[in-house]
Amino acid sequence: MIQKISDRVFQVGALDPRLPYFDALMPTPYGTTYNSYLVRGEDKVALIDPVQGDKFEQLLQNLKELCINELDYIICLHTEQDHAGAILMLRDVFPNAQLVGTARVAELMEYHFHIPRESFFVVAEGDTIELGSMTLVCMPIPFAHWPDNTMFWMPEERILFSSDLFGSHYSPDIPNCPDEAIWLLETRAYFSEIMMPTRNHVARYVAKVRALDPKSICASHGPVWYNPSIVLNEYELMVSDKVRRDVVIAYVSMHGSTERMIDVVADELCAAGIRVALYDLGDPNRDLRTLVGSVVTETVNAGSLLLASPTVLGGPHPAVAAMALLVNAFNPSIRYLGLLGSYGWGTQIEKQVNGLTARVKAERLDSVLVRGLPTKEDEASLRQYARDLAERLKSIPDEDVIGG
Ligand code: FEO
Repeated sequence: MIQKISDRVFQVGALDPRLPYFDALMPTPYGTTYNSYLVRGEDKVALIDPVQGDKFEQLLQNLKELCINELDYIICLHTEQDHAGAILMLRDVFPNAQLVGTARVAELMEYHFHIPRESFFVVAEGDTIELGSMTLVCMPIPFAHWPDNTMFWMPEERILFSSDLFGSHYSPDIPNCPDEAIWLLETRAYFSEIMMPTRNHVARYVAKVRALDPKSICASHGPVWYNPSIVLNEYELMVSDKVRRDVVIAYVSMHGSTERMIDVVADELCAAGIRVALYDLGDPNRDLRTLVGSVVTETVNAGSLLLASPTVLGGPHPAVAAMALLVNAFNPSIRYLGLLGSYGWGTQIEKQVNGLTARVKAERLDSVLVRGLPTKEDEASLRQYARDLAERLKSIPDEDVIGG
């Protein structure tokens, strides 16, 4: 479906509303979109980003509907398959179109699609593509989230083509009528799994975009931001070190011992006025990817994360191990990280979880590991553990706390 953004700019990409998981990992309950933008200058026509390979026919159909018989430029913002997958097919249809990209894009295109890098007209920061009364200004944003991500700015209409930055996996039923609550939720989820690992880079780009004061932001996934302050406000918060005074608990319990431990901790935290979000990674009715994705999103600006697991073959339950691995990869700005668990006759769980989360900069709480069912004494220790954590969260200065 074509979306008109202005008299000269159209979204001609593809919708994928039924996609259940992106990268076979990220839950996408509202599907996604692979956006491609057509910019018609007075003299030349540019297409920004091809789409994913299997969605090429949607792109081609949209171009036909707009009577596009020639493209002067195919501008690539990013080499990942969801944006550049159709590049070879697009070139076959528009053999005269000049490929445009940064040196990193040209390099990665050569690796991924075997297109010689010399085929690209290479652009760098501040270089322009003139389309006739329309200009596209190159703004590389390396590591948001790949080394090649690039934005283009169109000053005449104050439109920013932002690549994955500010994207969301959200394909609304009516493309131009997104539900704002869903959109923001999916924007946070997208940030957590795509941008959070490189948020220091992202923070610089957000400041740059804020200074540009765009009228619209056209990201590579999800609806167009016609009121960019909404997503800029959200990103400014997410890239900050501000946290909530809360505790996220991701756990698995095989026979009830670990569950009893987290029940005691959660109860005491709540009594101390601390918000607790509990996620049972062993829930048989939910896909582990969905649960893990929810936890990762919850860790954006969270004050603390507790992992809780029984010991399985000497280490953490595999679901908790997967969670720990992803927490390490996504690297949230939590202040405290803790481990709780129960074991039968011996355990290496602390050593293994510490290894899996080595990159996380949060302060480590002393682990609480009990043998079998927690005793009354164990429960008393767990309550003290929860009270200590509550005090730590309350001692975070107000200026570092969201809404503090
Ligand atoms: Fe949407 Fe980095 O690809």
